[in-house]
Amino acid sequence: MSAQGANIPESDSAQLRLQAEVQYAHELDCLAEEDDRQKPPNWKLSPWAVKLYLLGGTLSDGTEITPKYLGNDRLIEIAIATLATDRALLLYGIPGTAKSWVSEHLAAAISGTSQLLIQGTAGTDETALKYGWNYARLLAEGPSDRAIVPSPMLTAMKTGRIARVEELTRIPSEVQDALITILSEKSLPIPETDSSIHAVKGFNVIATANNRDKGVNDLSSALTRRFNTVVLPVPESFEQEVEIVHRRSEQLGRALELPVEVPALDEIRRVVTIFRELRNGVSVDGKTKLKSPSGTLSTAEAISVVSSGMAMSAYYGDGSLKAGDIISSLTGAIVKDPVQDLIVWQEYLQAIVRERDGWKDLYRASRESL
Ligand SMILES: Nc1ncnc2c1ncn2[C@@H]1O[C@H](COP(=O)(O)OP(=O)(O)O)[C@@H](O)[C@H]1O
Ligand SMILES: [Mg+2]
Repeated sequence: MSAQGANIPESDSAQLRLQAEVQYAHELDCLAEEDDRQKPPNWKLSPWAVKLYLLGGTLSDGTEITPKYLGNDRLIEIAIATLATDRALLLYGIPGTAKSWVSEHLAAAISGTSQLLIQGTAGTDETALKYGWNYARLLAEGPSDRAIVPSPMLTAMKTGRIARVEELTRIPSEVQDALITILSEKSLPIPETDSSIHAVKGFNVIATANNRDKGVNDLSSALTRRFNTVVLPVPESFEQEVEIVHRRSEQLGRALELPVEVPALDEIRRVVTIFRELRNGVSVDGKTKLKSPSGTLSTAEAISVVSSGMAMSAYYGDGSLKAGDIISSLTGAIVKDPVQDLIVWQEYLQAIVRERDGWKDLYRASRESL
């Protein structure tokens, strides 16, 4: 939490995307000031304050803490409590349910940094989870602590902070196994120097995993046991999803410095309605059965449909979000498979969009964009 990060509005910084601990430094500082509850060893904030940071609220001095996660408060409590135990946290769910987002904010609030991050891919090898070598030093001096290049995991262990592993199930199984020792023994042997690193209190791991990934490597039961799994669901209600999309597209619009009004709630409600109807395979009134497209149509995609629409209206429209501004990104989000999904979308346009009161503008825009 750098002091100079405090109070800087997003648009005053040249950096395209600020990490959570910088963007929300002011909130984190105010929380730390007010927080007199007991903290687990090496935590920057108490579990009470971490929860307030994630779910939002007002401090006694009037400081507004913006909600980061909108949904079931209990899930966030379980996630935070898990990190205070010796089990690691696995955030699991379909794409776009805020797993990475929650992981970043938890690490920022607990450890003051969200940057001890390992991005899991099919090419992730053991050095990414353990350590590598500075070869010049290794050749000159032989294996020594000075020649070791620590992974973010090793740094987190040494400093008692949270390490994040994104997309854990994309990592090959034999590499995943390296985590078992780290999580169960809380230490990492370094045979080359005949030593081992012991984790400092405060160290823990937040991993995220998608359940709809291609090429996933399921976790072994030995590894699963080291984690407490919290499943992040798609937003329960229509109103909740509208609020998430509204809040996030407003924040993104500000960060991108778009010369545009905050998008009209009506347009956001329409995008969310379309997403939910197609996802659920039935119209909101329950009268029309619909086919679902192949993509997940997540809340994250609804956010990006609205924010691309904001860019279109800012630069090529009249600055207020209209059907014509969102139609192309909307079509792009829905039509992932050019044959099957296009049929689904065309049927939806004919059966629902054309017939619904007040939706003629969207139907017209879809005809014009063909
Ligand atoms: N319940 C929610 N509360 C707040 N933001 C959400 C929620 N669901 C989705 N989002 C937003 O969706 C975007 C994508 O989330 P992300 O963490 O990348 O998804 P995942 O890692 O699950 O695929 C983020 O900008 C996040 O703010
Ligand atoms: Mg993610």
